[in-house]
This record gives sequence, C-alpha cells and structure tokens, in this order.
Amino acid sequence: MAISHVQPLLLLIGSLFFLPALRAVSFEYCNASGYDFGNVTDVEISPNPIGPNDFELSITVLGFASKSIDSGSVEVHARSENITDLLRRDAFAIEAGTSFVLPLPEVPLDILEGDFKYVVSVLDKDVGDSKEPIVRICVDFDLPISAPTLVVSA
Ligand SMILES: *[C@@H]1O[C@H](CO)[C@@H](O)[C@H](O)[C@H]1NC(C)=O
Ligand SMILES: *[C@@H]1O[C@H](CO)[C@@H](O)[C@H](O)[C@H]1NC(C)=O
Ligand SMILES: *[C@@H]1O[C@H](CO)[C@@H](O)[C@H](O)[C@H]1NC(C)=O
Repeated sequence: MAISHVQPLLLLIGSLFFLPALRAVSFEYCNASGYDFGNVTDVEISPNPIGPNDFELSITVLGFASKSIDSGSVEVHARSENITDLLRRDAFAIEAGTSFVLPLPEVPLDILEGDFKYVVSVLDKDVGDSKEPIVRICVDFDLPISAPTLVVSA
C-alpha cells in the first residue's frame, strides 16, 4: 500500500524536474542580431517532440521588454522559402521594464515542404503614421518533430 502511493509521487517529481529542460527549443532572432525592444530568454514547445498523432502544439515564449507596447499583437507563422502561413494572432500589450510570458496554445501543426521554421513575432500597431504594424521582436525555430513524422516530399 505504502509503495503504491510513493510511486506516483516520484513520477510527479521526476516529470516536474525533467519536463522544462526537454521542452525548451533553441531559437534565433529573425533579424539575427536581436532587437531594441527587449529579449527572449526561452522558447518552450509542448508536446516535445511532436509525434505522428499530434496536430497542434503549445508554444510559450519568455522574455524581457525594455520598451512598452500599448496596442500590439503576437503572431505565429509557419514559414518556408515560398510559403508563409499565419497560424495564430493574439492581442498584446506590455509595460517597459517587465518580463513577459506569452502562452500560445492550440497552434496548428503546419508541416511545409522543404526547410521551414515556426516564427513568433510581436508587432506594434501604435507607430504614428505607419499603416503597417512594425515588428518589435521576432524569433524563429525548428519544430522538434519526432523522426517517424517526417514528411517525404513528393
Ligand atoms: C535588428 O533590429 C534592431 C532594432 O530592434 C536593429 O538595431 C538591428 O540593426 C537589427 N539587426 C539586423 C541584422 O537587421
Ligand atoms: C534580457 O534582458 C534583461 C534586461 O535587460 C537582462 O537582465 C537579461 O540578462 C537579458 N537576457 C538575455 C538572455 O539576453
Ligand atoms: C520556391 O520557389 C522557387 C521559384 O518558383 C522554386 O525554384 C523553389 O524550388 C521553391 N522552393 C520550394 C522549397 O518549393
């Protein structure tokens, strides 16, 4: 009896300890050098790896904003050489000097032909005369897809 209670607890502790490290993916800034707006410290994906039966994923982006955004948005795209698909867009606002956690659940799995990346960008609409929102910060990363899911291109 005692043992059957201990094991689930150990499993829980084990997964709390191991999951965060497994879920983080390596990312790059879209403009290579980083942004005045702030920084991104971590990008986490769940499930990780993405298996053959998964059709959506959750992305969490953590970072720090040196500047504020009053009226912005967060967009998730899948982008390959010739295709850019918008997968999710959320409203976003932040105060300067604060850290942020962007939870982006239920992002569709969108496997494009050839090399492709998922891209998370923070856009600011409140930029004076400009009609187009401008990109304040942007990261891209490869999806951690488990080997059997790899699509053979026709
Ligand atoms: C990246 O964006 C920042 C502004 O946020 C700019 O200062 C920097 O030059 C950009 N880097 C490239 C390679 O365009
Ligand atoms: C992000 O920016 C904050 C505030 O400037 C800084 O303390 C932190 O070290 C930066 N982290 C990275 C990974 O650049
Ligand atoms: C993208 O388009 C160009 C020009 O049409 C083509 O040569 C190239 O093969 C395409 N790339 C992919 C990955 O389909």
